[in-house]
Amino acid sequence: MKIAFAELSLPKSGAVVVGALDERRLTASAKAVDKAAGGAITRALKASRFTGKKDEILAILAPAGTELTRIVLIGLGKAAGLDTLGWQNLGGQILQHLNGVGETEASVLLDPVQGSPLGAAEAAAQVGYGARLRSYRFDKYRTKQKPEQKPTMAKFSLLSAETTAARRAFQPLDKIADGIFLTRDLVSEPANIIYPETLAAQAATLAALGVEIEILDEKKMRKLGMGSLLGVAQGSARPPRLVVMQWKGAPKAKDQAPIAFLGKGVTFDTGGISIKPSAGMEDMKWDMAGAGVVIGLMKALAGRKAKVNAVGLVGLVENMPSGTAQRPGDIVTSMSGQTIEVLNTDAEGRLVLCDVMWYCQDRFKPKFMVDLATLTGAIIISLGHEHAGLFANNDELAERLTAAGKQAGEALWRMPLGDAYDRMIDSDAADMKNIAGGRDAGSIVAAQFLQRFTNGVPWAHLDIAGVAWSKKDTATVPKGATAFGLRLLDQFVAANYEG
Ligand code: BES
Ligand code: MN
Ligand code: ZN
Repeated sequence: MKIAFAELSLPKSGAVVVGALDERRLTASAKAVDKAAGGAITRALKASRFTGKKDEILAILAPAGTELTRIVLIGLGKAAGLDTLGWQNLGGQILQHLNGVGETEASVLLDPVQGSPLGAAEAAAQVGYGARLRSYRFDKYRTKQKPEQKPTMAKFSLLSAETTAARRAFQPLDKIADGIFLTRDLVSEPANIIYPETLAAQAATLAALGVEIEILDEKKMRKLGMGSLLGVAQGSARPPRLVVMQWKGAPKAKDQAPIAFLGKGVTFDTGGISIKPSAGMEDMKWDMAGAGVVIGLMKALAGRKAKVNAVGLVGLVENMPSGTAQRPGDIVTSMSGQTIEVLNTDAEGRLVLCDVMWYCQDRFKPKFMVDLATLTGAIIISLGHEHAGLFANNDELAERLTAAGKQAGEALWRMPLGDAYDRMIDSDAADMKNIAGGRDAGSIVAAQFLQRFTNGVPWAHLDIAGVAWSKKDTATVPKGATAFGLRLLDQFVAANYEG
């Protein structure tokens, strides 16, 4: 679908989309369209229950006196609710409606709305962004789709009095959407297609945008002493990889300490010898969502030429049971030198991340590290699918992340850390064990484990197990892979670390 920006005028063909605020207050464009169509909107309003509340849609087919296919009146709700997310959601809703009725071409007429925090240009850009986000589909393996099962919209135009400014405001959003689509693709792909080597190869494509890529293989990781990550990988026929992505966008100081994003990339998690039940195991193809978000985030940052030095690191392994798999009770030595008793091979994400974290702080001396991981089922028990869990050893970092999450519509909820939780992973046989034993505070215990590998660097951990995949559509996120965390972290970077 093409997204275009043009001057405000009455379109001659396709669908025209106009708005009404609550209490049936038509925008100036809605009034103009009503007039051109001989009062069609006024008549339809009288015959309907449409009041202009958010989520309401009134469609008028083949209006007399015009060549239009339809007039779509969309409820804008209260002007104050038309913030960034409000406009984005409208874009997603409009697109969904148009695809649902088989429309191919539409013009959305955007007037400045008094009381909205956004002007018309920014509003037009956000509507286009919301529509683009909602247009995502992962259907490459559905070879027998009938035409009526496919989206029809080909051209989505945003008409405003500030075309140039709207187009300019859309540019970076379009690049963020490119990153989000890459993440959604990577997370949606099955594990026979995306495994450590192929996921690393996908990350390597970011070189075309100026991202410096290094791929560490098993031999290199062995040399670095990453016994913990390699212990997880050893049960799989697919060799592990660690990908380092560097974006050096800070204007002058190319050597200025970077900010760091780390991702859990378990391309399939069977549980290993501590094998998972078979029901629902297919979900574990998206146990690399943290890595998928970090790769997509680097694409977004490079795509919009963010003025920041950022590194992305993803630890890629497949967790399989086999004759070479690690056993419960094995003791491994991590790159940090700390030894770990592996009491449950299904608590593998922390075993992967701990070596990635140590490597990251040791090599890059970053300002801070933020990791994303589908780390625990327990976070779904705590927070369901509405918030990701946030853990941090630094209050400022936690506050900035929480604020960015609110702005981006990806909510975080801070969870506690503390010495008493930390003691739960002390081991009699090694420096620590990888589970506490028992089901208490599972997500916190996992975060405590990671904290032992921060070496004092400011750090935050996002447990995205409950939000990486969605079973229902929302306005801008079709069901499936959400790329949760990408919009949040892009916003977090833009608000705090550029310029
Ligand atoms: N990848 C899982 C966590 C997960 C569960 C993500 C459900 C998404 C949906 C993780 O590797 C895992 O298996 N965690 C265990 C930890 C336990 C063994 C301490 C869990 O949550 O059960
Ligand atoms: Mn697991
Ligand atoms: Zn896992």
